[in-house]
Amino acid sequence: MADQAFVTLATNDNYAKGAMVLARSLRNHHTTSKLVVLTGPQVSDPCQSVLKKLFDEVRVVDVLDSKDTAHLAMMKRPDLGVTFTKLHCWTLTHYSKCVFMDADTLVVSNIDDLFEREELSAAPDPGWPDCFNTGVFVFQPSMATYEKLMQYSAEHGSFDGGDQGVLNGFFSSWATTDISKHLPFIYNLSSIALYTYLPAFKQYGGNAKVVHFLGQMKPWSLTFDPKAQKVRGGSQDAVASHSSFLLDWWTLYSREVLPLLQEHYGDQPFHSGCLVFHTLPWLVFNRSHLFASSIVQEEECQEASAAASEASRLSSEERRERWERGQADYMGEDSFENIQKKLDAFLK
Ligand code: UDP
Ligand code: GLC
Ligand code: MN
Repeated sequence: MADQAFVTLATNDNYAKGAMVLARSLRNHHTTSKLVVLTGPQVSDPCQSVLKKLFDEVRVVDVLDSKDTAHLAMMKRPDLGVTFTKLHCWTLTHYSKCVFMDADTLVVSNIDDLFEREELSAAPDPGWPDCFNTGVFVFQPSMATYEKLMQYSAEHGSFDGGDQGVLNGFFSSWATTDISKHLPFIYNLSSIALYTYLPAFKQYGGNAKVVHFLGQMKPWSLTFDPKAQKVRGGSQDAVASHSSFLLDWWTLYSREVLPLLQEHYGDQPFHSGCLVFHTLPWLVFNRSHLFASSIVQEEECQEASAAASEASRLSSEERRERWERGQADYMGEDSFENIQKKLDAFLK
């Protein structure tokens, strides 16, 4: 529907990659609604270009930051002050109804029925079910509501330092007044459910419509080994508990988003930890492109850079050119195992 939209937010390149995957997942499940992404000036030009391909509307907004370090520290998420920027979504008044979705969500089934719900519909937060989680919510754009929200946050702040605290304060009757505004948990299934109620997850998890990678560990901060079809990195528990959904995210990312990014980045290096292993050779054989890839966490970046320089010295010019043309011998000499061995040797 032309006057309905799914809306997400990405203030930097990492979340932008999440937004790209989300957009593809919505389209793959045949949504008929528009797709909108709110971005900040920090998002790089190549990422902006890819967003423009995948979304009907890319709107650059002022990044709002609660700067409420005390409350954010309680959640151990000092980075979430900028989620205040989400409140801009109420200014999208050229749509009659919208569904906001965090950039770390993935749609696994059509959810267009959400537009039949009223503002403010959302699923319970797994940590405190009398609060709604703001990873997925139905709202009605309105400048009047936007102004009231701004005023409310100036006067009351946010009890968690992010948008969820403000929105739960503002829509405080959600817990008790109208059950139709409680979305089933399968519309915002966070992996936390796995730890807190495993039998229910086993019973109902298969009906999930939206998966939410809530918490510090995001799909793009992990690594993907396409040959073994495994996601690695982070805490093993967390990876294991997310595994099939993480695999879905990475499969979509590597098949449908990465090619677009590669096209738009051209010769420039990627700057975020969001590469699949099969792009690693580009890192290894290009001395000039020293950056943190997903094979290394940020703190290991320097070592990997040294390894990359060393590797580039050892490699032949011809081989390098083949890599750069994207003609790597993934199954043979340039297989993931061989690259891993080489890196391991250098890192030692
Ligand atoms: N977000 C963003 N930039 C940031 C942090 C957050 O654009 O630096 C947006 C993004 O849409 C993200 C949402 O705000 O999904 C909420 O943050 P996050 O998903 O990390 O919070 P969580 O769900 O883990 O509590
Ligand atoms: C929550 C929500 C997220 C929100 C954050 C800050 O954990 O999942 O969407 O941005 O809290 O309030
Ligand atoms: Mn989230």
